Amino acid sequence: MPNREAHEAAMRRALAIAEQGPADDPNPRVGCVILDAEGRPVAEGWHRGSGTPHAEVEALGRLSPEQRDRIGELTAVVTLEPCNHTGRTGPCAVALAETGIGAVVYALDDPGEVSGGGADALRAAGVAVTGGVLAEEARELIAPWLARQDHLTDPSPGRTRDAASEAEKSASLQARRPHVTVKWAQTLDGRAAAADGSSQWITGVDARGDVHRRRAEADAILVGTGTLLADDPALTARAETGGLLVPAEQQPVPVVLGRRPIPSGARILEHPALAARGLAEPIRLTGDDLAADLAELHERGIRRLFVEGGPAVASSLIAAGLVDEVLIYLAPALLGGPRLALGDIGVADMSGIRRLRILHLAQLGADLLVKAALEPAAVPPAPAAPGASATPTTPTTAEKEH
Ligand SMILES: NC(=O)c1ccc[n+]([C@@H]2O[C@H](COP(=O)([O-])OP(=O)(O)OC[C@H]3O[C@@H](n4cnc5c(N)ncnc54)[C@H](OP(=O)(O)O)[C@@H]3O)[C@@H](O)[C@H]2O)c1
Repeated sequence: MPNREAHEAAMRRALAIAEQGPADDPNPRVGCVILDAEGRPVAEGWHRGSGTPHAEVEALGRLSPEQRDRIGELTAVVTLEPCNHTGRTGPCAVALAETGIGAVVYALDDPGEVSGGGADALRAAGVAVTGGVLAEEARELIAPWLARQDHLTDPSPGRTRDAASEAEKSASLQARRPHVTVKWAQTLDGRAAAADGSSQWITGVDARGDVHRRRAEADAILVGTGTLLADDPALTARAETGGLLVPAEQQPVPVVLGRRPIPSGARILEHPALAARGLAEPIRLTGDDLAADLAELHERGIRRLFVEGGPAVASSLIAAGLVDEVLIYLAPALLGGPRLALGDIGVADMSGIRRLRILHLAQLGADLLVKAALEPAAVPPAPAAPGASATPTTPTTAEKEH
């Protein structure tokens, strides 16, 4: 049978192909790779969205007749515990067990109260089952989906909601919030602008195109009044068609944090998501209590929030422990000077250093993208004052990817 190394290699492949599934589907993204007795991949599949076959069924359907004859020697490697309920398609645990497959390896327990329990069903049918292989990576893959469910972001990463105690669940009810991604662009020396405030453009067209694609995947896009007043961003998601940037079909609703008024001619007031949702202006939040602000967004049905700055807002959210992942676009350039991409994030000394876990690295033209998850703070961060000196040297003009 394949060893742990082969399981992990197959799981990495399963996680990669799962990403081809739709980002905002009612179902989570799932990938499956089937290995033969020597640990070689012989079939694979991913879930293409609600109502279509699940990843395991896709992969099983791609087995050759010869492989089916030796199904007892095969191992299905799946990013999510095979489901155990009949929805628009049948239970995957049953489909796998009925084929007579020898083993199932999965990453993350199915958190669904209805769909969970597939591992037990498989074991009961005599299948060798191993869970927890690259579980953290699988959790990251479906984090936006988890956040969209009618519950909170998992209070203790790595644990399923079913495993959370009732006390944790109830304590976390106030913490219900969207999945939060904070994005910024910077030079390799951590600057968001030149000393004089000029910055267009730090990153190139490929990086900016990537930002637009990610905007379109979010339910809402947030900026502070500092960025609003300095940059007058449009905050629309745009896609390239025939060399032209046109508005994408999916538009995140704009959100502005801070008390200063939005100028009457601001481009954000023309955002297409406002008319589509019958809003006269962007959603306004004061920023006095960031957790309460995010809870309000969740209340409004926002499950994926894309934060585009500026440095003061990004720093406050990180300091408050309200950020799930960061997207840092790194330009191969140096600017020096005082205009930093982040300011005070509540770290007083090395014991408070905020570690990141790299989720994805990519080269976009000349630039690099680092996507990373924030590890929980080792020491509780010092709360940052609302709108306070989160950036010791706030840029006046910086990367205007708006
Ligand atoms: N490189 C990049 O990727 C990038 C991205 C975006 C922006 N920028 C640049 O960054 C500059 C603007 O950034 P900024 O740091 O000055 O402003 P900002 O982060 O956009 O907004 C800060 C303002 O938000 C409000 N606020 C409310 N609650 C807050 C809280 N808890 N924490 C922080 N702010 C809160 C306050 O405004 P009120 O006084 O109105 O309450 C505060 O002054 C611009 O020059 C822009 O070009 C760079």
